[in-house]
Amino acid sequence: DKVVLAYSGGLDTSIILKWLKNNYDCDVICMTADLGQGEEMHGIEAKALKTGAVKAYVEDLREEFVRDYVFPMFRANALYEGRYLLGTAIARPLISKRMVEIAEMEGAQAVAHGATGKGNDQVRFELATMALNPRLKTIAPWREWELKSRTDLMNFAQENEIPIPVSRKKPWSIDANLLHTSFEGGELEDPWNAPGPDCYRNITPAEMCPNEPEEITIDFEAGDPIAINSVKYSPAALLAKLNELGGKHGIGRVDMVENRFVGMKSRGVYETPGGTILAAAHRDLEGLCMDREMMHLRDSLIPRYAEMVYYGYWFSPEREALQAMIDKSQEKVTGTVRLKLYKGNCVPLGRKSPFSLYNSELATFEEDYVYDQADAAGFIKLVGLRLKGRMQQSKWGGKE
Ligand code: ARG
Ligand code: SIN
Repeated sequence: DKVVLAYSGGLDTSIILKWLKNNYDCDVICMTADLGQGEEMHGIEAKALKTGAVKAYVEDLREEFVRDYVFPMFRANALYEGRYLLGTAIARPLISKRMVEIAEMEGAQAVAHGATGKGNDQVRFELATMALNPRLKTIAPWREWELKSRTDLMNFAQENEIPIPVSRKKPWSIDANLLHTSFEGGELEDPWNAPGPDCYRNITPAEMCPNEPEEITIDFEAGDPIAINSVKYSPAALLAKLNELGGKHGIGRVDMVENRFVGMKSRGVYETPGGTILAAAHRDLEGLCMDREMMHLRDSLIPRYAEMVYYGYWFSPEREALQAMIDKSQEKVTGTVRLKLYKGNCVPLGRKSPFSLYNSELATFEEDYVYDQADAAGFIKLVGLRLKGRMQQSKWGGKE
């Protein structure tokens, strides 16, 4: 039998690799996705083979991640519970998709992941796998094994000659990719505790940011960013550049208590520097080029779209249908936004578009010839009729 394991090269997935071999008596094929987490990919293959894998894939998925997952999600202005930019949630379907492809190539019967039985990630990995290849089984060692504590894990590692990193593992769980870094657990488990200095990776604390603001422009085409300061970038390079700018100016930290799909509340700290700039710029350009009713309808669907991504329903008929509608809404979201980055803030300063719906002749406070103010009197009378009716009913029983 063959199993494809999502392998990070860290202690946990190395233990899982050994455990799978011991318990399932199977060949383990490792898959490590480079999503721009900034960890050393070099040597991971050798490490996997040394730990007992029969084969190890190291996949550079950075461009695909940003182009086909991050950008479509940003077209939707997705935000979970009003704040979380979904940096971990959006990466899971792509990792699963690559795992499924490798499982099919290798003729494996199962895939395995290192997510715990308490979180969202297990759901996301498994729903994506079910949606893409219903024949594949998923093995989730954290839900099966007898290793109940950190000490159990250390003992298992020692017995199986898995090297334990010298630097004590940080007391929390970190997940990183090009879009974000998340921190959970440890001292963050008390929602009253402020995040300490270890909870900062890519974003400068506001107190230490440059005293000079920086002005940038972002060009969009059909809802996707294509250039910064008029220089074109590939999707992954563009997000990396925005991360650098946002990180430098302290932009994009979120600290929140959120509702996990599996039922409990959890506290997370997120760094999403580039994504935060992107979201502000995109929203601002839409203000200029998107029709009112289109925007209000789309806005009403943001919580639903974000829920689909958060819960792990990326490959689902409802997300795909909503995406088609959202992509349609973006056809004319083309133009340039000018922004100021300064000590944790990202402030739009100006915007322009060949598809601008802004009509200065209509909006002007000066005298104009296109809009007859007298028309407004009848308009207000009619749209307010029902308000009068309600008060007449309650005051005078419907009679004048
Ligand atoms: N709470 C966030 C989410 O559910 C982040 C999860 C981080 N995952 C991890 N394996 N550390 O999307
Ligand atoms: C995990 O449980 O593996 C991480 C947290 C989450 O998935 O929500």
